[in-house]
Amino acid sequence: METVKKIKLSDFETFLKFLDYLKEGIIVIDEDKTVNYANKYVENLLNIKEPEGKHFADVIKNNYLYSIIAHEYDKDVQEEIIIDDKKFLVKVYHIDNKKFVHLTDITPFEVYKQAKKDFVSNVSHELKTPIAVLKGVIETLEAEENDKGKKKFISMAQKRINQMNTLINDLLIIARLESKEDKIIKTNINLKRFIDQIYEDLSHLTQEKNVKFYNKVNENFKIYGDEKKLSILLKNLIENAIKYNKENGKVEVKGFLDKDYTVIEVKDTGIGIPKEALPLIFERFYRVDKSRSRNVGGTGLGLSIVKHIAEAHKGKVSVESTLGKGSSFKVYLPKP
Ligand SMILES: Nc1ncnc2c1ncn2[C@@H]1O[C@H](COP(=O)(O)OP(=O)(O)OP(=O)(O)O)[C@@H](O)[C@H]1O
Ligand SMILES: [Mg+2]
Repeated sequence: METVKKIKLSDFETFLKFLDYLKEGIIVIDEDKTVNYANKYVENLLNIKEPEGKHFADVIKNNYLYSIIAHEYDKDVQEEIIIDDKKFLVKVYHIDNKKFVHLTDITPFEVYKQAKKDFVSNVSHELKTPIAVLKGVIETLEAEENDKGKKKFISMAQKRINQMNTLINDLLIIARLESKEDKIIKTNINLKRFIDQIYEDLSHLTQEKNVKFYNKVNENFKIYGDEKKLSILLKNLIENAIKYNKENGKVEVKGFLDKDYTVIEVKDTGIGIPKEALPLIFERFYRVDKSRSRNVGGTGLGLSIVKHIAEAHKGKVSVESTLGKGSSFKVYLPKP
């Protein structure tokens, strides 16, 4: 810190220009408390113009920031403050009787920290419920003499174990999608055959409610994408279309071309989604009606995985829905 590097005047001017490019704030205050320098970022953030030469009390109207700078510390300071709903890390260094103030917007980091906290607490909650039920079931099973009664409790236990298994599998899919090593490997896929294969694993769901499934994709219609991932995506959409359907309802899958995209549509005649819930359904763990969703065994991760996979293909997902009538999800994949 003590050795001072020499800098040529012309370079110093370039250096000042560089400071204006920074997405961080820098303020220098002289010993007589006038502002010596503030970069562009600070001017925009604090809504000030040419503050140089003015007393800092006349320039810095934000109370938090003012009090940090005004305080006579004998050492360097670090504090977190709020400016315009954003969180900033403020560092004040004392060098040669001047104060150097450095401001960094740490809002994105805070948002990330909160999301991580919410995620862990959601996962714990989703595991806690089935484990509590399992514990009860096993205790009852232990005391149960009757074979028929035993069977009932064993099937209850199996249901909860399946629920936890689904959750863990979904979490692994998300972890894999978010890992840096994960790559999208695109090939041409015949959509009609692809849908038939996917439906094979889901057909048992349609029987419970007598839902009719129609694969309306044209024979030679091709999509271009990662087969494994798109299979997860379509499985989630078709599963939802069946799960949230009505007795004797219908599910239809179509493929068509739009300007720059190949589009896959999964349409159902189910219960529909309330308007105010539409912007939220792609969020992790969001379920429209938690009690209803628990009955059908969902954790609310499905659509967040769908969105993630579509975006990894540089595509998108859209939804249209009428409450009580049905929903239509469209997946847009860029044409090859
Ligand atoms: N086709 C649909 N019709 C009506 N509601 C739907 C449909 N698809 C999704 N939803 C609503 O959106 C919510 C979020 O869907 P998502 O697939 O993410 O979660 P889930 O089905 O509850 O659980 P998971 O898919 O993780 O097992 C669902 O709980 C449901 O309320
Ligand atoms: Mg789902």
